Amino acid sequence: MSLLQVRDLSVIANNAGHDVTLVDRVSFDLAEGEILGLVGESGSGKTMACRGLIRLLPSPNLRVQGGALRLAGQDLLAMGEADMRAVRGGQLGMIFQNPSSHLDPLMRVGEQIAEGIRLHQGASKKDARRQAVEVLRQVGIPDPQARVDNYPHEFSGGMRQRAMIAVALGCNPKVLIADEPTTALDVTVQAQILRLLLDLRDRRGLSIIMITHDLGVVAQTCDSIAVMYAGRLCEHASKYEVLAHPQHPYTAGLIDCQPAHSSGHALLRTIPGQPPLLDALPAGCRFSPRCPQVGALCTEQLPHGARVACHYPLGDRP
Ligand SMILES: Nc1ncnc2c1ncn2[C@@H]1O[C@H](COP(=O)(O)OP(=O)(O)O)[C@@H](O)[C@H]1O
Ligand SMILES: [Mg+2]
Repeated sequence: MSLLQVRDLSVIANNAGHDVTLVDRVSFDLAEGEILGLVGESGSGKTMACRGLIRLLPSPNLRVQGGALRLAGQDLLAMGEADMRAVRGGQLGMIFQNPSSHLDPLMRVGEQIAEGIRLHQGASKKDARRQAVEVLRQVGIPDPQARVDNYPHEFSGGMRQRAMIAVALGCNPKVLIADEPTTALDVTVQAQILRLLLDLRDRRGLSIIMITHDLGVVAQTCDSIAVMYAGRLCEHASKYEVLAHPQHPYTAGLIDCQPAHSSGHALLRTIPGQPPLLDALPAGCRFSPRCPQVGALCTEQLPHGARVACHYPLGDRP
């Protein structure tokens, strides 16, 4: 059985009295040790889907509607806020693009890691500090014995990202949600952080949901890929299947727009057009106004399907 099961998860925003669905009935499974890449253009709902999943929405006008959310057999939707708080930051950890806004600038890095270790593992103060040094070593901070007493501003950008991963790991999560964890970093540091996440998966059996708009990151790191478009999942399969045999015209478009595919061209290709506004969705498939292969059904019926949500998937064509 999968470690995490997400069924028909929706996130709804109430904008001045009327509801707009930001995330629409998203379903997927995550196995132990699996790294799932959640990709899609900016605004497609990747962050909201994961925030809904941990039931930590950034604004009071937002709410989760579902479905089912099960982590290691526990029903997250049925949990009260106190139990959910223990799961969040415990079995479910989250790291973000910008570590500076998630690390406390007034608290030593080691104390921030130790706090989680004490809270979630019931360790003593002294033991938590010892473990914090060990976690810093695991995430590749040099001289962790000394660095444990530093403040976040004494760390470089890449080291702060490692420190945030260390804070999350201190809570011993089963699933780590990483929201654009390397977007703000230069390519060398990005590669180091991705290698660190892979290494943590191998050593700890950690499952990771990696949110990114960068298919290069996905190709390097993930086992499976889920593609989001305008709040819905449009394709989900193994990395190989999605990258080598995309079934959804949107996925094929994203792959075509990768720099490696447009090398030799002065301009990077983009998919023509814009994603729809969520309060003015087209009838039928949300990608239909931009789809180069739009057919008769596409403007009438919303397509469904776990592998691919398309009326005329590419693989079915001669
Ligand atoms: N508080 C809010 N109220 C209403 N809509 C919001 C709110 N916050 C974000 N959104 C909208 O939710 C959609 C999904 O955003 P997000 O999940 O951040 O996208 P992504 O992470 O894929 O870039 C966007 O259209 C965004 O404008
Ligand atoms: Mg986002």
